[in-house]
Amino acid sequence: MAHMHSWAAGLVLWGLTQGAAVAQAGAHGMHQHGHHGQAMSNEPERRELVVFPDAMRAHTLRSMRLHLEALQKIQNALSQGRFDQAGQIAESALGMSALSDHHAHENVTYMPAAMAQMGAAMHRAASQFALVAQDASATGDFKKPLAALAKLSGTCVACHAAYRLH
Ligand code: HEC
Repeated sequence: MAHMHSWAAGLVLWGLTQGAAVAQAGAHGMHQHGHHGQAMSNEPERRELVVFPDAMRAHTLRSMRLHLEALQKIQNALSQGRFDQAGQIAESALGMSALSDHHAHENVTYMPAAMAQMGAAMHRAASQFALVAQDASATGDFKKPLAALAKLSGTCVACHAAYRLH
C-alpha cells in the first residue's frame, strides 16, 4: 500500500471493514485524484471498492477479458447461425461448467455477498443461454437466443455498475 495516498489506504480499509456498504466511496470527490482513470469523468464514483489480493485481482481481470472474448465468439457464432457452437462457448467459458476454472470458490471469500450473487447470476444466465441456443438450432429462430444473450451481458453490466477492484 506504500504507493497509495492516505485517503486511498483509508478507502481500502473502509472497503475491508464495510464491504457491504455501497455508494459512498466517491462522496468526497476523491476519485478525481484516483489511479484508475476516473479523472476522465465528472461522474461521482458510486461503485463499491472490493479489495482482492494482487494475484487474485490480476487473475480476475484476465478472466474478465476472456469473458469479453467469449461474448464476441458467441456473437460471431450466432451471426453465422451456428447455434450449437454459440451455446457450447457460453457454457464452457461462462456457464456453470466454467465455475471451477475461475477459482470461483476462492474468489467468493473476498467478495461482498451481493457481488458473489451477481457472479452466480452470470453463470446461470450463460447456462440458460446455452439451453436456448440449443433449442434454436432446431427452429433457426434468432430472437430467443438474442434475448438470452442480452440477459447474459446484462449480468456483466450490473456487476460493473456496482463494483470495482483495487
Ligand atoms: C460479479 C461481478 C462481475 C461480473 C458478473 C462480471 N464482471 Fe467484469 N469486472 C468486474 C469487476 C469488479 C471489474 C474491475 C472493474 C474496475 O476495477 O474498474 C471487471 C472488469 C472487467 C473487464 C476489464 C478487464 C481489465 O483487464 O481491466 C472486462 C473486459 C470485463 N470485466 C468483462 C466482463 C464481461 C464480458 C462479463 C460478463 C460476461 C463480466 N465482466 C462479468 C466484475 C464483474
